[in-house]
Amino acid sequence: MKIIDAKFLTSAPHYKKCPKPNLPEYAFIGRSNVGKSSLINALTGRKKLAKTSVTPGKTQLINHFIIDEKWYMVDLPGYGYAKASKTHRAKWSELSTDYILKRPNLLSVFSLIDARHDPMESDIEFINWLGLKEISFAIVFTKIDKLAKAKVHSHIENYRKYLSEYWEELPRIFITSSHKSTGMDEILNYVNETNKLFKMD
Ligand code: GTP
Ligand code: MG
Repeated sequence: MKIIDAKFLTSAPHYKKCPKPNLPEYAFIGRSNVGKSSLINALTGRKKLAKTSVTPGKTQLINHFIIDEKWYMVDLPGYGYAKASKTHRAKWSELSTDYILKRPNLLSVFSLIDARHDPMESDIEFINWLGLKEISFAIVFTKIDKLAKAKVHSHIENYRKYLSEYWEELPRIFITSSHKSTGMDEILNYVNETNKLFKMD
């Protein structure tokens, strides 16, 4: 699947203020600075559709993008930002967990993980929470261009092993670089297949 058209729709402070849930939807979630907005730009082939920044915490609202008038991409604020205040963290948690649990058209969450790091508590906690709540999700490793080629495979294998301690079955895993456009076709094909499952109540 290739994306022809991609438009920014809304920035919402609450899931109730999001666009009507009448199309299949995918949300991009992960630690601050992991590359959520960059991935949305790389998938859509646009440089500035979603705002990116070297300063963590750029995305603070639920941002909806409409793709080819057929499905939504959602850019959510990042978690695990070390300098964030307690109030900020609580707000993140409420905004995002409410959104994830209550958005009826959310077909899958893309849980983004920086491929360079060993498993981090905030990522594992979030993934385990998704599993507990039975939310369909896939894992996307980001920034693999920053890892030496020889290390990518073993690094991802280690992560798999780590997750296997928690889960019998692992979700789909995508290995990506937004800067080099690696792994984009795989994600878009997955979306294309998953879109076919969408049914309106
Ligand atoms: P918040 O909105 O703050 O939570 O961040 P985000 O997850 O949306 O991250 P964003 O896309 O803004 O990217 C953060 C930084 O990582 C930017 O400086 C990007 O250029 C860089 N970055 C993102 N993806 C990649 C990648 O694939 N490779 C490399 N080398 N850098 C990347
Ligand atoms: Mg962002």
